[in-house]
Amino acid sequence: MDKIQKIKGFADLLPDQASQFARLETVAKTVFGRYGYREIRLPILERTELFARSIGEETDVVQKEMYTFPDRKGRSLTMRPEATAGVMRAYIENNMHAAQELSKLYCTGPMFRYERPQKGRMRQFHQLDVEAVGSPSPYLDAEMLFMLADFLGEIGLTDLSVELNSLGCPACRPAYQDALNAYFRGFDSGSLCEDCLRRKLTNPLRVLDCKVPGCRELTKGAPSLANYLCDECREHFAVVTGLLDKAGFSYVLNPRLVRGLDYYVRTTFEVVSGKIGSQSAVAGGGRYDGLVSALGGPELPGVGFACGMERLALLLGQGETPAPDFFIAALCPEALGPALELAQALRAQGLSGECALAAKSAKNQLRQAARLGAKRCLILGESELANNTVVVKDMATAEQTSLPRVDVTALLTRPSEAK
Ligand code: HAM
Repeated sequence: MDKIQKIKGFADLLPDQASQFARLETVAKTVFGRYGYREIRLPILERTELFARSIGEETDVVQKEMYTFPDRKGRSLTMRPEATAGVMRAYIENNMHAAQELSKLYCTGPMFRYERPQKGRMRQFHQLDVEAVGSPSPYLDAEMLFMLADFLGEIGLTDLSVELNSLGCPACRPAYQDALNAYFRGFDSGSLCEDCLRRKLTNPLRVLDCKVPGCRELTKGAPSLANYLCDECREHFAVVTGLLDKAGFSYVLNPRLVRGLDYYVRTTFEVVSGKIGSQSAVAGGGRYDGLVSALGGPELPGVGFACGMERLALLLGQGETPAPDFFIAALCPEALGPALELAQALRAQGLSGECALAAKSAKNQLRQAARLGAKRCLILGESELANNTVVVKDMATAEQTSLPRVDVTALLTRPSEAK
């Protein structure tokens, strides 16, 4: 029979990776909780219109990366390519603004984008996503960056760079778009890629985000948005950067940082690493003050970010499986029952380990204990059964002692063993 294989760009997270992901989620829960964020769990499937309206018709995500299909009644559904749109849909639908002025939410889970898979870029990937809805305060932007840095620091990543920009707002951006258009008019139509020829008409900012070398080169001399910000946007950004400076938070201003999603205004940021190849952004986010109302909700501002878990895991390396406290070897069939009983007694004390499920030679089972990385191998054979004893072999020192079975728990739970 042919083997059925997984879909390209989709990965199995085997136990070491799954435990790495679980650790990231645990640290996220602790750190985000410290700042007042609460978890929200949302559907993976949403109506296509939600993403088209929030992420933007002209983005690569909506144009060519969504997993979209009709359901059995012909309604167009999409597997979420990101979490923000769904969080906003749920925020509006559940009237969350009525309960409190500021909602601080986070969620985690798989996202889907039909991109060309490569290192750090998957078609199914996982995000830790954070959203705060209800406050326009630049203090919130700064606090969010502090929280992101706390989280990255706590998982062990400090060697990262934060890129920061302000994308302006609907009041000041049109003038910048005009300036960009005027700049692009100075080049003939062959200088931009086909996508950018379309983008420059529909949303010229998207051209700055193009990865095609020719377009990158051409945009090098493009006007900078920083020179077109209105007074409010300039003031907002000055407060954010002032707070970061005061806290000694290091960042790099990147006027070309436009992000791949259309809902952003004002503060935008990305956290990048030089160690994982071309897919270097491990987190990205910013303000999206018009998004809630664009989705039919009240006029409320928001800010958020998402970390890519695969990229964090790439930086952290393989997760470690904790060493079990014991393995119980049974040298004869009669020892199998007592081995299971002993294992249950030890597990009831909070110890971890496994026991033999078939009687085998001592050599064979010691090898199994070593393979599992068990700290101790407890051996039950005929004479141990007759004397109610157990042989305890310390797997690190190879030291072997025989002791009454009732004393095993005490030995394994001694404070020095609890680590
Ligand atoms: P994003 O920049 O599209 O933003 O994605 C955030 C992060 O998800 C990226 O920095 C990257 O680490 C990871 N990521 C994105 N695509 C892939 C992929 N194909 N494979 C692996 N990792 C990937 C957003 O999604 C926004 N919703 C973030 C946000 C929340 N903004 C405001 N609130």
